[in-house]
Amino acid sequence: MNEKIQEMRADIVAAASGINDSKEMYQLRKQYLDAKTGMISALMKNMRELAPEERPAFGKIVNELKTWALDFFTEQDSRLKAAELAKKNAAEQIDVTMPAAPHLCGALHPNTLIANELIDIFAGMGFTIFEGPEIENDYYNFTALNTPKDHPARDMQDTFYVSPELLLRTQTSAGQIRVMENTKPPIKILSPGKVFRSDDDATHSPMFSQMEGLVVDKGITLCDLQGMLDVFAQNVFGKNVKTRLRPSYFPFTEPSVEVDVSCFECGGKGCRLCKDTGWIEVLGAGMVNRKVLENCGIDPDEYTGFAFGMGIERIAMLKYGIPNIKMLFESDVRVLSQFHE
Ligand code: DAH
Repeated sequence: MNEKIQEMRADIVAAASGINDSKEMYQLRKQYLDAKTGMISALMKNMRELAPEERPAFGKIVNELKTWALDFFTEQDSRLKAAELAKKNAAEQIDVTMPAAPHLCGALHPNTLIANELIDIFAGMGFTIFEGPEIENDYYNFTALNTPKDHPARDMQDTFYVSPELLLRTQTSAGQIRVMENTKPPIKILSPGKVFRSDDDATHSPMFSQMEGLVVDKGITLCDLQGMLDVFAQNVFGKNVKTRLRPSYFPFTEPSVEVDVSCFECGGKGCRLCKDTGWIEVLGAGMVNRKVLENCGIDPDEYTGFAFGMGIERIAMLKYGIPNIKMLFESDVRVLSQFHE
């Protein structure tokens, strides 16, 4: 009997030595220690076959085997579980110094960024948005803006005509008329949108975007225009920029001005960006021509106003240092991914 027990002990050790998995080890443990079906429990049943005087000694060695087996399997279990945990931890280890995988996400187009920025600035000064149609009639785009059919200023803008009376608007100034026709002053609107001209080179595109502004009220002067332009320029180009008005000509404003900002690149000393002049032209503006107010049924002796119009792409090119307007229309992700809010 003793031999049988020694053999069983050796069998357990041999079987356990080939097992590397705690679940398999548990099966082996059950095979020997399960209360009903276990091989050690079965030994106890053999007791009946022994002479009564042999039974206590036999019971003792079977119990010893059982105690040994319990310890042995507990030890095996903790050894395997520790190894399994170590393996799991090693597999799950993360290197916090490893560079993160690039996370691709969309971004707003630079034109949209600039348009949003301008809308925010002017909304902060009380302007509301008016969006006119892209297909305009000749009257709103030209005639009502003091540019009748034979007017030489029509040559300033090469127009795409859809029919003799309909055209792709060449300027968002057309929106001024639509607003003034229907609104009693005070008026303070900003009109963003696409405009179209038969023009194509490094700084011109047949389709581009403008932002038009119009203020009409009693007692509006050129000083109001410049004060507002200062706020605009300092917000877009930096706290230290100044504005300068230069005499110019537009049929719908009198007087008319070109607006320059002091060069934000060199501070006015002269550089490549400002072509050594210290100034950069950013937009056209002026006091609304009396005739334009009259065309819209507004009394020019009671009300005055100023208007301004700027090209969004031009502002984007200046602010972001974009050399060619085509870059704003080609949708090349290598270019666009460089712009963020
Ligand atoms: N419409 C002009 C253009 O497209 C820009 C402009 C100049 C708009 C003077 C204005 C203005 O409202 O007053 O070139």
